[in-house]
Amino acid sequence: MKAIQIAPSTYWVGVIDWALRDFHGYETSRGSTYNAYLVRAKEGYVLIDGVKRGFEAEFLERISSVCDPKEIHSVISNHAEMDHSGSFSDMMKLFAPDCKLYASPMGVKALHAHFGDEFPVSVVENGTHLILGGSRFDFVETRMLHWPDSMFTYFGDDAILFTNDAFGMHFASNERWYDECDLSILDQEAQKYYANIITPFSGIVAKLCANLPPYKIEIIAPDHGVLWRGDGITRILDHYKRWSDKDQTPRRALIIYDTMWNSTEHLAMRIAEGILQKGLHCDVMPIYATHRSDIAMALLAADTLIVGSPTLNQGMLPRVADVLCYLKGLKFNIRTAAAFGSYGWAPLGTKAVQEQLCCMCKNTLDSYVVNYVPTSEALNNAVAYGHQIAAEMLK
Ligand code: FEO
Repeated sequence: MKAIQIAPSTYWVGVIDWALRDFHGYETSRGSTYNAYLVRAKEGYVLIDGVKRGFEAEFLERISSVCDPKEIHSVISNHAEMDHSGSFSDMMKLFAPDCKLYASPMGVKALHAHFGDEFPVSVVENGTHLILGGSRFDFVETRMLHWPDSMFTYFGDDAILFTNDAFGMHFASNERWYDECDLSILDQEAQKYYANIITPFSGIVAKLCANLPPYKIEIIAPDHGVLWRGDGITRILDHYKRWSDKDQTPRRALIIYDTMWNSTEHLAMRIAEGILQKGLHCDVMPIYATHRSDIAMALLAADTLIVGSPTLNQGMLPRVADVLCYLKGLKFNIRTAAAFGSYGWAPLGTKAVQEQLCCMCKNTLDSYVVNYVPTSEALNNAVAYGHQIAAEMLK
């Protein structure tokens, strides 16, 4: 397995994780890559980021196709999460005996917390640069993209911005460049990645996109998925600007529900019908058939969330609780929310859903509940409830 040269002095030496299907709760149905980059400095080599533990052999093979690992005198860690640092324990001892590891101030703390005193880490400050092996590397702190330690590294000789998690996607492929792949798949995977990883930090993304350092950028090189060049740079930046801008969230409803004996499901269809009758878009996702990370992706493109659950043991169905817990943490921009469901003794499932929605959205409407099985009148009322939601959406 050989390195891939991506610019005159820079090589991709990452690994491909074809089998990854779960990234802390996010379903990665197309696998992922852990991208790392080897830069030929004027003297020796600089490594930017590592890979996940367990992939050291592939990583080493790619590095060794370019240089003797002992020629690596500097390692820059843009982000300490284990998918990028897990290999350091085994790899650092293969590099030059005096090889230095650099990270942001929070990165130094995070690496220390992960690896103890296994190897010393030197701090690089925001807005500063280092000359490593005679070549210049600039550093930009990007706290919370996606951890407090995250930073970008810029290598001006090849005009590459190494952005770690930002602008990435979980997508395994033998192609390294965006323009070698099916763009519709990339757009979908980039949206899914943003929704499941970046959404809570949209405010930071918006500021970053508006104030990118004035570097000449010919390549954006993230640590997951494909690299961006040419028009691809504008494409991914435009996506991030749109997804991070609350005012650009489409006027669209998303209904998610679980059901016990189909009553809540029947209500879901009628509420959707009511919204559609008012000329608005509405997606429907049964939670029993949809992974939470796909629901998150859909919610990034919606401003209204409607959640259905029957009552089980005085609460909501467990799968609904799972999804609400996940969505709540991602802090989506939800302008209108509503809960609905059927019940037997008391509508406590819907009440529990509504309580969660109130924490996620200031404009949470009164719930719509039906005892046991909806009559035709109750189904008509569900359509009317859809009309009520649509009216809120149009305000
Ligand atoms: Fe790819 Fe936040 O790790």
